[in-house]
Amino acid sequence: MDRLSEQREYYRQRAPEYDEWWQARGRYAKSPSEEAKWFADVDEVTRALDSFGPGGDVLELAAGTGWWTARLARQASRVTAVDAAPEALAINRARTSGNVVYVQADLFEWEPPADGFDVVFFAYWLSHVPADRLAAFQRKVSAALRPGGRIFLIDSYHHERLPDDRQQRELNDGRRFEVVKRYWQPAELRALPGWDLTAHVTANRHIIYATT
Ligand SMILES: C[S@@+](CC[C@H](N)C(=O)[O-])C[C@H]1O[C@@H](n2cnc3c(N)ncnc32)[C@H](O)[C@@H]1O
Repeated sequence: MDRLSEQREYYRQRAPEYDEWWQARGRYAKSPSEEAKWFADVDEVTRALDSFGPGGDVLELAAGTGWWTARLARQASRVTAVDAAPEALAINRARTSGNVVYVQADLFEWEPPADGFDVVFFAYWLSHVPADRLAAFQRKVSAALRPGGRIFLIDSYHHERLPDDRQQRELNDGRRFEVVKRYWQPAELRALPGWDLTAHVTANRHIIYATT
């Protein structure tokens, strides 16, 4: 299986257990002090998103199980949520109502509709875009934005990159997969051509987020 198919397959299989990581449950459970720091960082980025104000027509790439979709849908008039994994989209659907349109598609193939979006949002996705697909991905995002449109992105923070930007992942049942995982630094996000991002790392250094 090629690396992007393996990454897609990993997330299909992980969908039923995906939220355990985000909610620090199961094998992702933390000590009380580490848990407090994790959730403080989650709150920090959630507040940043709320103040950014994802209004109007919002495109969410790699929407997953919908943690952010539901948040976006509070302020957006409409969210278009794209993801390759039907299993994740089924969980996502159960979290939202009304103003979310779902698209099951491979983001490396999918083309955004010509009428464009006011906001493009993606969480924990840029780190999974391989270096040789980055320029095309950036062009796709830029093409999806209406004039004056804005970007908000969230990702994992780590102080250094992994060898070859590759990471081994394991599911609860022990099955192993390899994914692309590029840990971005704030300066690298700011330097991305054409986006003019402002980038921040949360206080406890778990999360990086950036906005235009
Ligand atoms: C790390 S998860 C992030 C999910 C969600 N944004 C969040 O923060 O909870 C990555 C998501 O990318 C999706 N994905 C992986 N490869 C994809 C591809 N080629 N096209 C579209 N979605 C893909 C997975 O199904 C998964 O839902």
